[in-house]
Amino acid sequence: MSAQGNLSGKTAVIVGASSGINLGVAKHLGELGARVAILSRTKAKIEQAAAELQGSGVEAIGLVADVRNADQLQTAFQSIHSQFGEFDILVSGAAGNFFADAKNISPNGFKTIVDIDLIGTFNVLRMGFDYMRRPGGSMINITAPQGKRAMPKQAHVCAAKAGIDMLTKCLALEWGAEGIRVNAVSPGPIEDTEGFARLATNSDLREQIEGALALPRLGQRVDIGRAVEWISSDQASFVTGTILDCDGGMVLGNLYSPD
Ligand code: COA
Ligand code: NAP
Repeated sequence: MSAQGNLSGKTAVIVGASSGINLGVAKHLGELGARVAILSRTKAKIEQAAAELQGSGVEAIGLVADVRNADQLQTAFQSIHSQFGEFDILVSGAAGNFFADAKNISPNGFKTIVDIDLIGTFNVLRMGFDYMRRPGGSMINITAPQGKRAMPKQAHVCAAKAGIDMLTKCLALEWGAEGIRVNAVSPGPIEDTEGFARLATNSDLREQIEGALALPRLGQRVDIGRAVEWISSDQASFVTGTILDCDGGMVLGNLYSPD
């Protein structure tokens, strides 16, 4: 039986949600009563994640799709639509990252990140477009501070996430008249996630990143769940094309402590 809450009767589709932040978002929306469909590339992982959600009382299904393959997304979205109806919320959050100097990244390494993050985001929103509730459908891209700030060993991710930020604005502009809002949420460093582990490759770096935040603590998955909850809700019905920084102030660019 699904949880009761202010999202009862709504359908939320979360792409890249077999683990980490996006699974946390799925859990949060599901606990508020949404029917939740989660997708990722790896069958065993997505099935386990769906079982985890079901085990906590969320009405959930898990489907396999690689965001680099528009046909797989189309097939999965068709199946979700026939089971759960129109999508009220579509979250695009699949991503890849590694920590490497640009001079050590091959053309295929750079392309791989752009393919998953940026082109994958376009594919998700483009293939999801036909299935959104109109009016009232809300699309949310999961971006990162790298979209606004240059960071060492992150040229590939910075380029891809900056592309996602601009895509968010362009699609918001085009699809507002269709009754669809398009926004992004930009997490800062989130505790116990693959993305943060790949960025903070040693404890010194982890402390430096945390210490430079205006709010000096690591974020939790639920912080991002709440940001997605708000921006997809009617409370934000006049908000579109926005990048909502939910990052403890990481994007403010603190360089030193005045002490
Ligand atoms: N440094 C430099 N290049 C790297 C690299 C690293 N640490 N890791 C991978 N690459 C390069 C590979 O060498 C390859 O390029 P090549 O063919 O020229 O050798 C290219 O990236 C693709 O690697 P491959 O492993 O074939 O890609 P994949 O599609 O199977 O996996 C990744 C994509 C590399 C991003 C993989 O880490 C992944 O699936 N990540 C998902 C989880 C994740 O990153 N979570 C954090 C989200 S923020
Ligand atoms: P994660 O647990 O590794 O999540 C990445 C998800 O994307 C997984 O579910 C993975 O599932 C899926 N995925 C990867 N490639 C895919 C593909 N080609 N097709 C479909 N699904 C794919 O990492 P995370 O740290 O939680 O990151 C989640 C999001 O938050 C990302 O967009 C990331 O950029 C953003 N972010 C994270 C942080 C942080 O501190 N962690 C900070 C800022 C932004 P499979 O392996 O099953 O495919």
